[in-house]
Amino acid sequence: MRRDVLQPNRASRVIVGAVLTALLALTLPQSHAQSTAAPIPTDPSLKVAFIGDSGNGADFRRVLELIKSEGARVVLHQGDFDYADSAGAFFATIDSVLGRDFPYFASVGNHDVESWREGCSDSRMQRLLRSLSRRGAGCYAKFLKTRMARIGVTPDDPDLDDQMYSVTYRGLKMVFVGEGGARAGNTLYAPYIQDQLASDDHIWRICSWHKNQNAMQVGDKDDAMGWRVYETCKDLGAIIATAHEHSYHRTKTLTSIQNQIVDASCSSPDNLCVGSGSPGRSFVFVSGLGGESIRSHQRCLPSTFPYGCNGEWAKIYTSDQGATFGALFITFNIDGDPRKAQGYFKNINGEIIDTFEIRANAFSSLTAARRPPAALLLSQAKLQRDRHSRQD
Ligand SMILES: [Fe+2]
Repeated sequence: MRRDVLQPNRASRVIVGAVLTALLALTLPQSHAQSTAAPIPTDPSLKVAFIGDSGNGADFRRVLELIKSEGARVVLHQGDFDYADSAGAFFATIDSVLGRDFPYFASVGNHDVESWREGCSDSRMQRLLRSLSRRGAGCYAKFLKTRMARIGVTPDDPDLDDQMYSVTYRGLKMVFVGEGGARAGNTLYAPYIQDQLASDDHIWRICSWHKNQNAMQVGDKDDAMGWRVYETCKDLGAIIATAHEHSYHRTKTLTSIQNQIVDASCSSPDNLCVGSGSPGRSFVFVSGLGGESIRSHQRCLPSTFPYGCNGEWAKIYTSDQGATFGALFITFNIDGDPRKAQGYFKNINGEIIDTFEIRANAFSSLTAARRPPAALLLSQAKLQRDRHSRQD
């Protein structure tokens, strides 16, 4: 009788042991594959400046001088350049402060669209402008492409006329989309972003565009992007860089951008988390104090922290908070940790307005996020074994 009881116990142990071994054999090569195809870090301490709505006057020049003195190595301009369709004059200002070969990438703004396309000088407006001033002639996309070629950066597609392109620079993946409105956002830009980021292995990714959804800015901008671009970037763990409203504001970590839901597991205003998943998590900022003008705080009042609306805002800096021009800086791969970054907004008077840290998830792609980790499979196998033991 006792022998009869013991035999099945031994058999079940052998079976569970075999299952464990098989699971280990299945999972370990995957873990190995994950570590060999390691997510790609940025250069250590890669500092990037984010600006928008700059104009091409004395204040833009001050912002560029700030960017230079802070030691930023890349500029991402979220659109609305000089408000004058004078691409040549606009880039001449940039070159005079930062140098001809300074990495300068941009999303097209609604005020840039007439002179964006490479063939823009064929338009009536440009012919008129050219006749008035040779200096301002040119097309923004052409200047950006020429600059990229000069510094050895190749966009995913040489055609920037569709307002969508992506580049990788010093380990930072950047996807730029246009200003064509919510329909374009939902049907063209969001699928393009998905295509660019779904199988991407860079730790840090940026989505850059000009316009907003009303709830993702604190001024009076209408819904002009659609939610799909925001949700796609967030689910793919990309930081969302915008402008259009002429002030600076930044959210906490959100798991739903459309519904402004703060990530309960990463809710601090100054310690942010980004990572892909279903849902993923990320944050949104508007950096629109590049030099053109400064607007007021109209949504999500009161004007002091923790502000209003749904608790999504970590920092708001408008004329109501005494704002002046400046730039948001993010330094990636700091303190010897490729997954750690630090952000700060500094104005042209040298005042630091906002500081925060960001951590990137351990899983850098949806494929990795969906793959059950070896530890989970092992613990499930152990649970089964324990159940067998209890039956013993
Ligand atoms: Fe603007």
